[in-house]
Amino acid sequence: MLLFDQIPALKNYLRDSRHEGKTIGFVPTMGALHAGHLSLIERAVKENDLVICSIFVNALQFNNAQDYEKYPRLFEKDINLLAKYPNLYLFLPEHRTMYSETPTLKMDFGQLEQVMEGAHRPGHFNGVGIVVSKLFHIVQPHRAYFGQKDLQQCRVIECMVRDLSFDLECIICPTVREDDGLAMSSRNLRLTPEQRKHAVLLPQALFLARDLIQKEQKDFSVVRQRITDFFENTPLKLEYFEIVHSENLQPVQTIAETSRIALCIAAYLGEIRLIDNILLPE
Ligand code: PAJ
Repeated sequence: MLLFDQIPALKNYLRDSRHEGKTIGFVPTMGALHAGHLSLIERAVKENDLVICSIFVNALQFNNAQDYEKYPRLFEKDINLLAKYPNLYLFLPEHRTMYSETPTLKMDFGQLEQVMEGAHRPGHFNGVGIVVSKLFHIVQPHRAYFGQKDLQQCRVIECMVRDLSFDLECIICPTVREDDGLAMSSRNLRLTPEQRKHAVLLPQALFLARDLIQKEQKDFSVVRQRITDFFENTPLKLEYFEIVHSENLQPVQTIAETSRIALCIAAYLGEIRLIDNILLPE
């Protein structure tokens, strides 16, 4: 597998491929790859002549220094996982390659980032927006693939693509889950076996909320209260549970406001923060 760690070499290679008429798919990641990442890669490999996967643990999007330091880095294992895809190339830059200088520009996504992840992780979406736009400029893909697991990130990137006229299509892929329902995440690797058992409460809370709404519970304050109660006397510390419009991510109070809903949750197990969401209708 071709591996690039420098921007000019990657750009030259992709320029030639573009001239040959090849379509380019792009899957940005922070590594510690799991089946969720691989589902994006497999779709990209099917839909494009060549695919770039980037692995870059982007310091700019971490609002918590310890989370950045402890983020799993398994580059050799990742390279081995990717080796089986014939038309896939890896971009693995170092911090100084991406940020020869700390960016001055700040990205503000307005209302979209005043809720949920944006509200609880100040500066996070600025960091995501900056790195993804740098990567888009470097790779200039025809299609870029993202996971619904990070729903707010998807909406922020779609907004950025629209507002800055990036000439590419964003493709959102469904969340891949473990057999017990836990959404796959690189951060799951940091859970102790005991914490891993409790982590399943996160999707279970989402499924409980979905059942309540599907059984005609129209008043969402009742659903919110049920979910808050659900976490009482458990080791999970609920940070937020939100019922929002699935496109603009603004909170909704009753089913009468919209039929397109996202149920979104974030909770801590010890110092590890996990997020998840489901869409209604599915
Ligand atoms: P990372 O957390 O590594 O995720 C890379 C991509 O994989 C994201 O689009 C994410 O939504 C998707 N993904 C993660 N878990 C998934 C799952 N269980 N099922 C389906 N897709 C899943 O998200 C980032 O990195 C970064 O913020 C990044 C976009 C690379 C910018 O630094």
